[in-house]
Amino acid sequence: MTDSSPPPRLGSLTFHGPLSEARATRLIGRLAAAAPADVLDIGCGWGELLLRVLEAAPGAKGTGIDIDAEDLARGRVLARERGLADRVTFVEESARGTDRGPVDAVLCLGSSQALCDPGQPHNPAAALSELRRLVRPGGRVVLGEGFWERTPTEAELAAMWPGARTDDHLSLGALVDLAVEAGFRPAWIERASRDEWDEFESGYRYDTELWLAANPGHPLAAETRERVDRQRSSWLGGYRDVLGIAYLTLVATV
Ligand SMILES: C[S@@+](CC[C@H](N)C(=O)[O-])C[C@H]1O[C@@H](n2cnc3c(N)ncnc32)[C@H](O)[C@@H]1O
Repeated sequence: MTDSSPPPRLGSLTFHGPLSEARATRLIGRLAAAAPADVLDIGCGWGELLLRVLEAAPGAKGTGIDIDAEDLARGRVLARERGLADRVTFVEESARGTDRGPVDAVLCLGSSQALCDPGQPHNPAAALSELRRLVRPGGRVVLGEGFWERTPTEAELAAMWPGARTDDHLSLGALVDLAVEAGFRPAWIERASRDEWDEFESGYRYDTELWLAANPGHPLAAETRERVDRQRSSWLGGYRDVLGIAYLTLVATV
């Protein structure tokens, strides 16, 4: 690495969210059991889950949409390495208002904001309505969505992200009710465990922390240290045990 190379980013993560191998395998099994012909991944990042669904459903073709060119490039490399390059397309575009549906299966993990108006507060009802539009009747959606495990205190909100408010998220019950109102049956309801969160949060910064320890004099060290220290405080002083991630396996009603 040359002295001006930027710090490494996200290289220690398998999934870009608090998701264990065991839970991923179960989510994939439920999707693949329906033998989808086509799978759409909204805000796919590097598309690890999409690639695993394609491996589990050999008749399926996949499309991953994201606006991050670096993550998409990582996904294309992974697809080539696994012999899936002819069954998956990674496209660099916004998912907002996408016309790449309806399909048999939709993934949307940690990325429902991609379906909403970026100028408005996050709107899970709007995202669920979009997901229903993007899946055929009887088709399946796996949605990974934030919810409050409990109402945050004022001190926790102040430590989270700038402008954090109690109405940034719903309770799990209210979120599932919205999915039903949008035209789904909630076939499976689960949430990330504390261990999955700790693994994700540590993995999110792991290679950056190693880089910081080894490169204290690097021109980007001060701003990188400030960023990861802020992220860690936001987690440990703010949203740890308060913000949950629900994994909802939803079936579109016919
Ligand atoms: C937390 S990451 C989740 C990535 C992936 N779903 C996963 O679980 O590994 C959220 C992703 O949403 C993407 N995203 C944000 N806004 C988007 C938009 N308007 N259209 C498509 N992707 C978007 C980001 O670039 C990022 O890759």
